[in-house]
Amino acid sequence: MTSTSAVADTADSQTPGWTATSVAAPAHVRHRGLVEWVASIAAHTEPARVVWCDGSDEEYARLCDQMVAAGTLRRLSPVLRPRSFLAWSDPSDVARVEDRTFICSATREAAGPTNHWVDPAEMRATLSGLFRGAMRGRTLYVVPFSMGPLGSPIAHIGIELTDSPYVVVSMRTMTRMGRRVYDILGDAGEYVPCVHTVGAPLAAGQADVPWPCNPTKYIVHYPETREIWSYGSGYGGNALLGKKCFALRIASTMGRQDLEAGGAGWLAEHMLILGVTSPEGRKHHVAAAFPSACGKTNFAMLIPPSGFEGWKVTTIGDDIAWIKPAADGSLRAINPEAGYFGVAPGTNVRTNPNCMASLRENVIFTNVALTDEGDVWWEGMTDTPPAHLIDWQGKDWTPADGKAGRKAAHPNARFTVAATQNPAIDPAWDSVEGVRIDAFIFGGRRSSTVPLVTEARNWVEGVYMAATMGSETTAAAAGQQGVVRRDPFAMLPFCGYNMAEYFSHWLEMGRRLQAQGATLPRIYCVNWFRTDENGRFVWPGFGENMRVLQWIVDRNQGRGQGAEHVFGISPRYTDLHWEGLDFSPERFERITSIDRAAWREEFRLHTELFDMLAQRLPAELLEVKARLEHQLAA
Ligand code: GTP
Ligand code: SPV
Ligand code: MN
Repeated sequence: MTSTSAVADTADSQTPGWTATSVAAPAHVRHRGLVEWVASIAAHTEPARVVWCDGSDEEYARLCDQMVAAGTLRRLSPVLRPRSFLAWSDPSDVARVEDRTFICSATREAAGPTNHWVDPAEMRATLSGLFRGAMRGRTLYVVPFSMGPLGSPIAHIGIELTDSPYVVVSMRTMTRMGRRVYDILGDAGEYVPCVHTVGAPLAAGQADVPWPCNPTKYIVHYPETREIWSYGSGYGGNALLGKKCFALRIASTMGRQDLEAGGAGWLAEHMLILGVTSPEGRKHHVAAAFPSACGKTNFAMLIPPSGFEGWKVTTIGDDIAWIKPAADGSLRAINPEAGYFGVAPGTNVRTNPNCMASLRENVIFTNVALTDEGDVWWEGMTDTPPAHLIDWQGKDWTPADGKAGRKAAHPNARFTVAATQNPAIDPAWDSVEGVRIDAFIFGGRRSSTVPLVTEARNWVEGVYMAATMGSETTAAAAGQQGVVRRDPFAMLPFCGYNMAEYFSHWLEMGRRLQAQGATLPRIYCVNWFRTDENGRFVWPGFGENMRVLQWIVDRNQGRGQGAEHVFGISPRYTDLHWEGLDFSPERFERITSIDRAAWREEFRLHTELFDMLAQRLPAELLEVKARLEHQLAA
């Protein structure tokens, strides 16, 4: 058995019972470097004990029981919501904290102007101070996980050290977590080290709170050494470090480093992946990037509406895609995750029936409301709210409170559920070789300006569309909501390096594949969110988005018709299939019209973005911009 000793390094930590002085690893952990790393983190953070997680059902059940006893979780009705739990977070810890998220690359330029950068040496000093003794009185859990199917050539391994049992059970659902990871890791395999603390050490005898966290928060990435350090939050992407921190910020840098090191390069994207099968049995795979809380989970689980009998949509992933070129020049995608950490508000049996079915049992809900029957409720779940609820802050709530503007569920309330519970799961969702991508879709939340759907004329114009995308901010991140900001590729908060170089990476990947003779996936831009003068959505959205998806798939087969305009090709009213939906040409005009004045302003915002990124911006994008502006003026 491998074991090692960690000697605590402060006088204070010598207090009996509060220091982990030995970190005995189980026999199946053969990686000495890993064991030494765990020992060094334990020595520094001084947990009361170290637990090596195995990912078993028993472990999951035990941790849930423990959290019920601690008040972190509430067991929901075994009849209405079997084996499910509700967590209410601290009201200060409810979303990703973008302004506390740092890319600490060696130089500021490498992180680029869209990321917060701090010199890595300075950040290490800051974090060293914060992490010292940060786990006192708590358990340090060692969480081994694979992002992607175990053993897939596209997958990568991470190890998260955390003092939050909520994070452990969430990681177990969201990733392939457990003992089998050590078999792949062997005695010298590569892994991304992730260290997380809620930043709330307990003094001897001090009682814990249901949701420990710290007002000071740091979500830190060191791209060169591929490390992640997270301090002070227990919520979502701040704390489940496999998700945005690893699968997007670190992985995006890995994909580019691979290209620079002479490899084929790869892409880590904020994209759902779906399969769409036509009545003739022809199947396409589409990857779509929408910013946080802009409809990825919904689109990934779409049920075709009436008028689309025989069509089928299946889910590969709902949030993140890792995409690598295969030898034949096709792009193969996997979902690095194994579960959904999805937005609850707005989800119901009409908007997303597959999602509601996924949530029947074995779910951890966070920050939704509790019904008197021991079930959950959130805004939009039913037309009529229950007569009485306990809201996400533990207070009584009645529909009168709702009318007065007090929400029962936090707008960023979420569910955590295994992908296997989705009735529309794609048979290939767990395949090691991934699925072949036939089209990319990019879409922001825009109440005006951007039309329903546009096909880019070529890869470079598609990259331009994605790079200049704007979207209204949502409750998924702390801060002001509903303001339009540029969100290139829906990656603004998730790109681990200079955004201008990320654009170059996309252009370069396209160039190389084309040089190889490959047919690149077409690129589309969509917008489900145009509103009328009363602020209501004009497009019915949700399942009806199938009408746009069908057009895209038809285009791919050289069938769908459209008309070319300034920005690319869009369907005319008569080019979409309308059976089963009463949607007039006048309404269609409202969501497809191109307002020249609005677009002049839009180009001004593109200029702002490009000016900010000027230092490393690829010239092709400036050329596209000049050409489009010229066409708009003509
Ligand atoms: P993240 O998990 O934060 O990355 O979000 P997401 O992109 O997966 O968003 P999700 O599908 O969870 O949708 C977020 C919100 O947008 C929910 O309240 C949905 O009901 C709403 N929404 C999704 N699709 C549509 C649509 O087609 N039209 C309209 N109007 N709203 C939509
Ligand atoms: C997002 O914000 O895009 C999410 C939720 O998918 S989180 O895991 O918190 O990043
Ligand atoms: Mn997301």
